[in-house]
Amino acid sequence: MHKLFRIGLAALLATVVYTASAQQQQQECPLVPKPVEAVAVEGSFTIDNNSVVLYDEEFAAQARLFQNELLEQCGISPILAPEGSAKGLSGRRIELRKASKKALATEGAYTLHIGPEAILLNASNRQGMIHATMSLLQLARLAYHNTKGYVSRDTWNVYYYNDALNAAPQEQSVTIKGWNISDSPRFGWRGLMLDEARHFFGKQKVKQLINYMALYKLNRLHWHLSDEQGWRVEIKAYPKLALIGGIGHNTDPFAPAQYYTQDEVREIVAYAAERGIEILPEIDMPGHATAITRAYPELSGGSKGSRKPNYTLNPGKEELYTFLNRVLKEVDALFPYQTIHIGGDELKDGNSVWNDNADIQNLMKRENLASFLDVEHYFAERVADSLFKMNNRIAAWDELAGLDLPSDKTLIYAWRPDKVQMLRKAVEKNYNIVFSPRLPMYLDYAQDSLQVHGVGWKKFGVNSYRKIYAWEYTSLDVDFSKGGNILGIQANMWTERVDTPNRLDYLVYPRMIALAENAWTQKELKDIDSFDQRLKEQFILLRVDDIYFNNPFDPSEHGEPPF
Ligand code: ACM
Repeated sequence: MHKLFRIGLAALLATVVYTASAQQQQQECPLVPKPVEAVAVEGSFTIDNNSVVLYDEEFAAQARLFQNELLEQCGISPILAPEGSAKGLSGRRIELRKASKKALATEGAYTLHIGPEAILLNASNRQGMIHATMSLLQLARLAYHNTKGYVSRDTWNVYYYNDALNAAPQEQSVTIKGWNISDSPRFGWRGLMLDEARHFFGKQKVKQLINYMALYKLNRLHWHLSDEQGWRVEIKAYPKLALIGGIGHNTDPFAPAQYYTQDEVREIVAYAAERGIEILPEIDMPGHATAITRAYPELSGGSKGSRKPNYTLNPGKEELYTFLNRVLKEVDALFPYQTIHIGGDELKDGNSVWNDNADIQNLMKRENLASFLDVEHYFAERVADSLFKMNNRIAAWDELAGLDLPSDKTLIYAWRPDKVQMLRKAVEKNYNIVFSPRLPMYLDYAQDSLQVHGVGWKKFGVNSYRKIYAWEYTSLDVDFSKGGNILGIQANMWTERVDTPNRLDYLVYPRMIALAENAWTQKELKDIDSFDQRLKEQFILLRVDDIYFNNPFDPSEHGEPPF
């Protein structure tokens, strides 16, 4: 080869390589939530049926979850190989390795290297490895569907199985671009609340929600299981709770009973735990208790007017505490998170009749209680006492921030940005605090001014995904230097006006995804323009799963389902 030509070629190659790597540097990693750091690596890794998943024993469950999810999502089933069993396996390696505590100390932290020779996932704890596998799965799913084009999962399954019946199915594989990712969460509490008391959605829908929570690294599902309209969990000691309390929902008070059996609850709890999600049950009391008093009228403390009949429990009745203790014992056994939410909200909607209630008047005299708020505190402290004896923490809405309880065992949910005095109390008492402010974290509120059903946007404005993305607790007029242990943030899906799975999807997605990035990604790294770009890419995953999401970039993709 002529020398000059050789030099010219080398220079040209150098320029091409330089330009390519400069482009890679600039390229943004598509992950949601955005990781702390993601540096492009040259080349790519192809996962296929011969790939070998090597893992340290501690991460056996995550290796298996990864294998199963990859089969479910992309039709690929790599080979699992515990340490020492990979001899003779020639496929390229995906390794799940234990990092030293020092390197990845934060709960949930991980690193993920994807290069042409290997994929390496590192974490020092189980939660971190779950997040590492979820990041890898998200990249794999995006790459797979972006290559194959989009078909809904139902259609895809039909093709796949028809193919398999008639001839050998095509071998599936996915090629993932190289990345070096280091990541850790901003908040330890990244929550979503689902209200199944007002409308019941059932196991499959809840599991799908859990799948997407896990994909976006949310880690607390707050399950609102009782309210005026229905009681949704089987309690063996008091079967009428489910059989009678379970009858009806917000649209039809006579609909046949709907509730989760204890076996179903265990199944859902285990499914969530596998994916790094703790479930926190809420049994709302002493208000919002109509479903309980429908089943056991003797526990009713009545209520004002006919709009909310028997809305309250009767804290003046000693049998109530025996009843609640037994109910909570079963709830404690079903939910291993050891934290139970007792509601405590909006008692004022019904307790004016307590003036004429002899049990309550006697209680007030006996215990020297001056007001109904004192009665509620007396009640809540007795319930808290029961929970502490079960080695549980107590969680409650901010109406109960005035309670005197051990701070390490108490969680207060700030939901009323217009009542910051309650949040100030929680801060002064040094309670654990979860922020789920009505504005913008209530998902039953309108997300844009196109919405015609549900909570009117003209009254409250819109709780758009952008507001959820941007919200910071420092916007509240509270001096957080005084105390309080800030756990994190949560969005609440109340379902009075959500009666179908499509309407649920429409209100949850994409706002849940915006919440997830706000909860996970360090404040300085949040960037709405970058989020918009990555969010658009995520929609392919929702389309594959036939999720009826709201597309803010093209609202005509799915119109608002009526209510
Ligand atoms: C609530 O929205 N009542 C907590």
